[in-house]
Amino acid sequence: MAKDTVTIIDNSTGKELELPLRRGTIGPAAVDITSLYREFGYLTYDPGFMSTASCRSSITYVDGNEGVLLYRGYPIEQLAEHSHYIEVVYLLLYGELPNQQQLADFSDSIKAHTMINESLKSFYHGFHHDAHPMASLMGVVGSLSSFYPDAADIYDSQQREIAAHRIVAKIPTIAAASYKYSIGEPFVYPKNSLAYCANLLNMMLSVPSEDYEINPVAAKALDLIFMLHLDHEQNVSTSTVRLSGSTGTNPFACMATGISALWGPAHGGANEAVLTMLEEIGDVKNISKYIEKAKDKNDPFRLMGFGHRVYKNYDPRAKIIRKMCYEVLDKLGDSSDPMFELALKLEEVALNDDYFVSRKLYPNVDFYSGIIYRVLGIPTNMFTVMFAVARAPGWVAQWLEMITEPDQRIGRPRQVYEGAKPRDYLPLSKR
Ligand code: ACO
Repeated sequence: MAKDTVTIIDNSTGKELELPLRRGTIGPAAVDITSLYREFGYLTYDPGFMSTASCRSSITYVDGNEGVLLYRGYPIEQLAEHSHYIEVVYLLLYGELPNQQQLADFSDSIKAHTMINESLKSFYHGFHHDAHPMASLMGVVGSLSSFYPDAADIYDSQQREIAAHRIVAKIPTIAAASYKYSIGEPFVYPKNSLAYCANLLNMMLSVPSEDYEINPVAAKALDLIFMLHLDHEQNVSTSTVRLSGSTGTNPFACMATGISALWGPAHGGANEAVLTMLEEIGDVKNISKYIEKAKDKNDPFRLMGFGHRVYKNYDPRAKIIRKMCYEVLDKLGDSSDPMFELALKLEEVALNDDYFVSRKLYPNVDFYSGIIYRVLGIPTNMFTVMFAVARAPGWVAQWLEMITEPDQRIGRPRQVYEGAKPRDYLPLSKR
């Protein structure tokens, strides 16, 4: 029987090294190179981690070629059809779908933690009046470390669980406050009679002086979008959370690092960038000009919401959101919304263009989400904040998994040094 190993040969010395393969349940196996440096004195070089599995995980599985996404083994399409956000959050955190009692207890616990400390509200006044809400979200989430110092004891499972529930419960309150501060409106307290996403909409869109009724279509659409954004294995923000968490820092500090990594336009910032791009394109007659710009290597413009490191097929989340766009626009807006029509046409042109076809560039999760956010009345600069709120429980699940891994170690990559060789210091008078 063939051995489950890979042998590498150093051609300069003829020395051979047999390396074990680590096989998961599904997906490609990984060559375990942990002994490589010890045995050969070589490092591996893989900028952008194109061929690197940074950890073992049982949470989320992505097959980029087939366009498959599983949370704890459940296909995203089934969860999107039958489940809801808080149930899937439980699934990610605890590994199994909850029974009725478990779901009720979990839901109650999340509701018990939705408020933020009153003094935390004063932090906002330190931000510039027009600060991007991602900036204040990042700062205020990090500052939770100062309110819950017990969470620093990351080796206490009870403290870890309370911190996990606090993060899931408080991040919508903080996100809504970030928005309210940016537009100069009073903060709205959480309302625990509302479901998770309805509560977020209420805190963002209502004002104390007026009655506000949550539109159930809007709440359901947000719940679905949140489910689709919950986790996506070792993406940049999740890897950042794991890397910072590997030092033993507290979970709130880890979340702040995840938020900062998510903000970039190559990652979670893409949903905001898509809307800005569609507004700039403005009309279907300008599409070909922008397609040419995206293809021009001398032009920094990229088609935002297109392409993905892992998906070389249609992103299954984008498929679900695209379908939802029709429903939401039908019920809440205008099904002939010019922005949606522009997005559909842009997608059609790109998917028939050899540049995009040959590079397997398809719409990703961010291509259509902004169109729905817009119809729900969520402003463009809050799009990435919404992503951060939805993704936070995923970061928490990944952090919990990492902390409880028996051979967990500090994450410390190496480098290929290309700087000056050792040289002697020259006094200033001789330079
Ligand atoms: N528009 C135009 N060309 C593109 C695009 C795009 N959106 N994406 C990739 N390409 C081209 C690259 O120029 C490159 O071409 P080349 O082979 O001729 O040099 C080729 O496709 C491969 O692209 P890479 O940048 O090497 O792919 P990588 O995996 O490193 O990047 C990324 C993936 C960052 C998502 C990229 O596709 C991109 O910038 N997309 C736009 C931003 C975006 O939508 N980000 C959201 C991702 S999903 C998420 O994070 C939730």
